Amino acid sequence: MTSHYTFGDSDLAARRLYLLAEAYSDPSQAFLKQFAPGPVERALDLGCGPGYTTRLLHDTVAAGSTTGIDSSEHYIELARSHAPTGIEFVCHDVLDKPPVPRADLIYVRFLLTHLADPGFALTLWADLLVPRGMLLLQEVALLDSEHPTLTRYYQLVEALQAQYKQSLYIGRELEGIARSAPFIVEHHGQRLFELPAHVMATLHALNLPTWKSDPVAMRNFDPKEIAEVEQGLLRIAQRAELCAPVRIGLTELVLRGMR
Ligand SMILES: C[S@@+](CC[C@H](N)C(=O)[O-])C[C@H]1O[C@@H](n2cnc3c(N)ncnc32)[C@H](O)[C@@H]1O
Repeated sequence: MTSHYTFGDSDLAARRLYLLAEAYSDPSQAFLKQFAPGPVERALDLGCGPGYTTRLLHDTVAAGSTTGIDSSEHYIELARSHAPTGIEFVCHDVLDKPPVPRADLIYVRFLLTHLADPGFALTLWADLLVPRGMLLLQEVALLDSEHPTLTRYYQLVEALQAQYKQSLYIGRELEGIARSAPFIVEHHGQRLFELPAHVMATLHALNLPTWKSDPVAMRNFDPKEIAEVEQGLLRIAQRAELCAPVRIGLTELVLRGMR
C-alpha cells in the first residue's frame, strides 16, 4: 500500500509544522496527560514530521525511549538534528510495517487524514504494540470559521484530499473505522477549542504555496481563485482585517490492542 502526502517536506513545510506544533501543543498535551498509561517504557510517534510531536509525547508521558517514524528523509534529518537523549528517529513508510521493537504506547496526530485506507493502517499498527498496548489518535473533525476566505480554504483542501481518497475530516469517521480494527475502543471524544484566525491563516498561508502546485490541484482549481485565497489568508495572518477565532474539533480515540 502506498500513500500520497500533499503538504510536502520542504523547509517551508517544516516551518509550518513547527508553528502547527506550537498551536496544537496544549490540546495534544492535555489528551496525552489524560489518557496515556503509565509507566511507558517504549513509545512510538507515527508520521512524526520534524519531530515536534515526538518530543511532546516523550516528555509528556515520561517514556523510557521514544521513536519517531516518518517517510520523509528531510523531516527525519531535521528531527535527528535536535533529538535529545532517549529519542530516535527512523525513516520509514508507516504502511509498510516499520522495523522497530513493539511499543507500550503509540501516538498518531494528523496522519490518518493523509491516508486513503485508515482501516488498513490501524490494523497494521496493532502489530507494533505489546499485548494490550495503547494507540492514541488525534485527528480533525471540525474546522469552522465565519470568514469566507478561511471557509473557502477548508473547502479547497477537503476537495483536494478527496481526490486522493483522503478525508480532511477523518475524525468524523474514525471511531467506526477503529471498531473494525483489532482494538477495543476505550475512549472516543471530541476536544473543542478555538485558535486565533491569524494563527490559523499563517499556517494555511504557509501550506497553500506547497499544495497549489500539486497536479490534481492545478487540474481542478481556478488559479485566479487560489491567488485570491492566498492573498486573503495573508491579510488575515497579518491581522489586516478583524476575524473571529476558528473553532476546531479534534476527535480523540484511545484504543487498546487486542492481540
Ligand atoms: C501533517 S504532518 C503531521 C506531523 C505530526 N504528527 C504533527 O502532528 O505535527 C503528517 C506527517 O505524516 C508523514 N507521512 C505521511 N504519510 C506517511 C507514511 N505513509 N509513512 C510515514 N509518514 C508519513 C508526512 O511526511 C508528515 O510528516
